Order: sequence, then structure tokens, then C-alpha cells
Amino acid sequence: MSPVSPISPVSPVSRDRLHRLIAGERERYAAGHPASLALFRQAGHLLGRVPMTWMSKWSGGFPLYLDSAAGATVTDVDGRRYADFALGDTGAMAGHSAPAVTAAIRRRAEERGGLTAMLPTEDAEWVGAELARRFGLPLWSFSLSATDANRWAIRLARLVTGRGKILVFSYCYHGSVDETFVVLDDDGTVRSRPGNVGPAVDPASTTRVAHFNHLESVRAELAHGDVAVIVTEPAMTNIGIVLPEPGFLAGLRRLADEYRTLLLIDETHTLSAGPGGMTATEGLRPDLVVLGKAIGGGIPCGAYGITAELADRIAERVRSGAADIEDVGGVGGTLAGNALSTAAMRATLSQVLTEPAFRTMAELAGRYAAGVQASIDRHGLPWSVSRLGARAEYRFTSPAPRTGNLSAAAADPDLDEYLHLYLANRDVLLTPFHNMALMCPATEPADVDRHTDLFAEAVAQLLG
Ligand SMILES: Cc1ncc(COP(=O)(O)O)c(C=O)c1O
Repeated sequence: MSPVSPISPVSPVSRDRLHRLIAGERERYAAGHPASLALFRQAGHLLGRVPMTWMSKWSGGFPLYLDSAAGATVTDVDGRRYADFALGDTGAMAGHSAPAVTAAIRRRAEERGGLTAMLPTEDAEWVGAELARRFGLPLWSFSLSATDANRWAIRLARLVTGRGKILVFSYCYHGSVDETFVVLDDDGTVRSRPGNVGPAVDPASTTRVAHFNHLESVRAELAHGDVAVIVTEPAMTNIGIVLPEPGFLAGLRRLADEYRTLLLIDETHTLSAGPGGMTATEGLRPDLVVLGKAIGGGIPCGAYGITAELADRIAERVRSGAADIEDVGGVGGTLAGNALSTAAMRATLSQVLTEPAFRTMAELAGRYAAGVQASIDRHGLPWSVSRLGARAEYRFTSPAPRTGNLSAAAADPDLDEYLHLYLANRDVLLTPFHNMALMCPATEPADVDRHTDLFAEAVAQLLG
């Protein structure tokens, strides 16, 4: 199958009907959330009226305003409680304000003090050792976001290989890392991703691009001999879920070895697969791993892990004076690895995102996916649902896409909006980006069943 040309199944959805339904749901949304709407209208001093521009992405014309949250539940300023499958787009995968995390935060903030002092705490070594146990890489360093962890890891990869480029997959997302905003168009030309904000240089000059699940395209790009590191999620999650086909990830490792390129596995989202992400479940052997979001239980954090061999190569370059990793060389940040975030990571990893918690979360995601699949089957819809441990997602195409380009081509913003609004109006939240649902340790089977029932109702109304 071509990595770029979709085979379009005939959609059974009438666009007129869909647009009428969206208009009705928008009215219901505005009428049902007057306090959120009023706050949004008053927010004249925020770019786009929101604290961070992505918050404009929520369907309905304005976001819900947070009043409180606990576990898998969010309450808005209109007093409505939601089963939250958005979970802060993975930032709250440990659940909202998990008691073990809030206790650790309180201990550090109120009892001991010292939120950020640029001094190490013993928590950091505990977290490093735990991540080493889970991911198999012995040495770790911290940041305040997965974006920064990726940036710094990429710099280190360029340093030790002496090569200037990275390789990524078309339609990847790794945070706001300049080099990764690239796609391949249908004739294989590298293009800046549509919407890329103010690129400093044409990303074709920094980046080689291949198709996910397409080892030939990876080999062709690595053959240029200028790629420092392959940067990839082990399953794409930011253009809908695109799962790796059998042999693809092992093939990447082989190709990286053959062309003396490093392999960076970004587990920021795929941690949903289990305590050690897909690195553990798939037996991957990355040179670098990047984490973020979830591991701080809601407190900003990120981390990258490296092999002992890579650490030796970095040390050699530092000794020779080729790189400064202690000051202004371009890795690290003032608040990174601070006492608060390392305390939060320790609590999250030791008491919340544990092995048994992942088992329960994966079971719930299985229940969620089965509920969605039952509706798809009942109506014979050409849709699919994919699951990655604790995460599940439906797409309006079948079979599930196998490359980023195919997944991008299957996007249907109208259907997304209809389903997001239908659910939000009935007190269930999906992440505003495509249709991803995530389970946390506090998610209840009843939350999942509520989604299943509403999804079935929404589909029945759609088909008339
Ligand atoms: C795979 C992956 N890497 C990195 C990031 C960046 O995370 P952050 O926005 O927390 O820096 C994201 C964000 O969605 C992501 O999905």
C-alpha cells in the first residue's frame, strides 16, 4: 500500500445532517456553560483569550473554565462534573491531584521549603534509578518539558556523532522542536509542516524525513550518511494513533546500527503502554529515551536517558573542550531538575503510575475500545479504533492508518467537533486533539461505560 494515498471508503455520513447536528450541539454548549462563556468574553488580556494558545482548540468556540479536579473528574465553573479522558493531554495521566503527589508537593513546599535552588536532592537519584530500572538506560537528566528534553538530547546526539541532521517521520510531533516540523508531500519532497510558526530556516536543511512503517524510506535517508539521530515515537500518537507494524521498530534499530546513527525513542505519550513504555513492552534498545508530561503527576518535568556508551562519548567531547554542558552550551535550564519536580516525579513513579495501576488502566482502555468497536460494527461504519495500553482512539477510516500521511488524510474535523461537543454537553471530555482518550488510575468502569453509551447515541443520531 502507498504510504501517502488513502483508499477512501465511502462515508455513510450526510454532511448536511452532520452540520445541523453540530449547530445544535454548539447552541447547547453555549447555553449549558454560561459561567465559562462569561469568563472567556472577559479575558481581554490574553493572546487568543486563553493562557496558552492551544486552549483555543476545544470545540464549541470557547473552553470550559476549570474550577476543581480530582482523580478522573474535572468540575467546571458552571458546577458541572466531567469524566475526564483528556487528562490534560497526558499531563494528568496520573489522575488529577493524586494524593501521593499532593502530599509530596506539600512536604517540599510547606515543610522543607526550597522549591528551586539549583541544588540536587536525593529524590533526583531515586527517580534516575527508577527510570533506569524501567527503561534500561543507566543515566538520566531532567528538564521541565518533553520539548526541552528532546532539544537537549538532539544536541547531544549531534555533538557525539559530528553529524548535522536528524531523521523524523512525516507528521511526527515531539513538542516545539524546530527540526521536527516537517512533512513529506505526495511526491516525496520535504516541506515545512503546514502552519509552522516562523521557522528560522527551512527544516529541509536540518532534517531528513521518512514514512513511519516504511523501512525502505528510512534506509534511503540514512544512506546520505549525515543523520545524527533518528527521533521517533515508538507508535505515532499525535496524528491519531499509528501503531508500528511487526518488525518495524527492530528494523529501525538495525538500520541505525548499520549507518552509525543514534536512535531516540520519545515515550512522552507511549508511556501509556506500561511502566517502561514501549521500550520495555517491545524490548527496544534505544540510545536515548525522552519522557515528560505524566511522570511529574502534573508538576512540569521532562527527562532524557542515555546509554553508558553515549555518556562516555559525551564526556570525551566535553574533556576535549568541544562542548560546554555546565553553562551556556545549549543543554540544561535554570529550573530543570528542581526540588519540587523531582519530589513530584518520585511520588508519581513510586506510588501512582505503578505496575498494577498500568494493568488496570490498560484493562479499562480495552473496555473503552471494545465499546467503541461494538458501535462501529453495529452500523458497519468504515471507522477504526486503536489502543496503546491505557490510551485508545477512534479514527474515521478503516483499516487504521499505517503512516502519518495516511492518518493526516483521514482527519475529519467536522466529525471530531460533533463528537467532542456531543460528549462535553453530556459531561464527558476527550482531548481536543483528534479523538484520544486516556485512562488514569482513578478512572472507573462506569466512566468508560458512560462514554460507550454516549458514543452509541451520537452515532445513532448521526446516521438518522
Ligand atoms: C511525543 C511527544 N513528545 C514531546 C511532546 C512535548 O511535550 P511538552 O509540550 O510537554 O513539552 C509531546 C506533546 O504532546 C509529545 O506528544
